[in-house]
Amino acid sequence: MITLALSKGRIFDETLPLLRAAGIEVLEDPETSRKLILATNQPELRVVLVRATDVPTYVEYGGADLGITGRDTLIEHGGHGLYQPLDLDIARCRISVAVRKDFDYASAVRQGSRLRVATKYVGIARDFFATKGVHVDLIKLYGSMELAPLTGLADAIVDLVSTGNTLRANGLVEVERIMDISSRLVVNQAALKRKQAALRQVIDGFAAALRQPV
Ligand code: PRP
Ligand code: MG
Repeated sequence: MITLALSKGRIFDETLPLLRAAGIEVLEDPETSRKLILATNQPELRVVLVRATDVPTYVEYGGADLGITGRDTLIEHGGHGLYQPLDLDIARCRISVAVRKDFDYASAVRQGSRLRVATKYVGIARDFFATKGVHVDLIKLYGSMELAPLTGLADAIVDLVSTGNTLRANGLVEVERIMDISSRLVVNQAALKRKQAALRQVIDGFAAALRQPV
């Protein structure tokens, strides 16, 4: 049995066409079913639904043989023990710094002010501001980052931006683009040795699906 870890939402939705192109159909819809293990049309392949931030952990410890996860999540996790054969180029977005429209970020940086930054991406934010030589106090949040500058919790946020709608709706502006994000296939290294033929087939299926229009 091969176990593929996915997270609900954008990654799951954008993975389906790739799976389909590889001849794999997921037999249940996570939006209507409460099941966490989903069968596919291939008796030897199942999908497990985990939180996006847990995908690298499941694959690292062998709870899943492979998984699909954003570059953001992978960098924060560290990627230890994970073979990363393919960038699937799905769920594309970017990680940026954003502030309130009326906050003068450029002069705060120029003056060497200490910035309070709220984020789920503490590792990425720490590296980014350290490289820039900006002193920051990082405040770890788990969601709704956009609220932090509006309530006075922080001066700035580091978060994902896709359409920019959430920033606009909350009166925030993007002031720096830290990195582009897309989702990658990650594979457990030990499983790759033990179940080589079966895993290679799935990896090659994804690679072939990427080469054809989906
Ligand atoms: C994500 C992200 C941004 C937003 C970006 O939040 O954290 O807030 O989507 O998308 P946009 O640029 O298209 O508006 P999500 O809705 O996943 O909620 P959360 O941050 O509270 O987990
Ligand atoms: Mg958000």
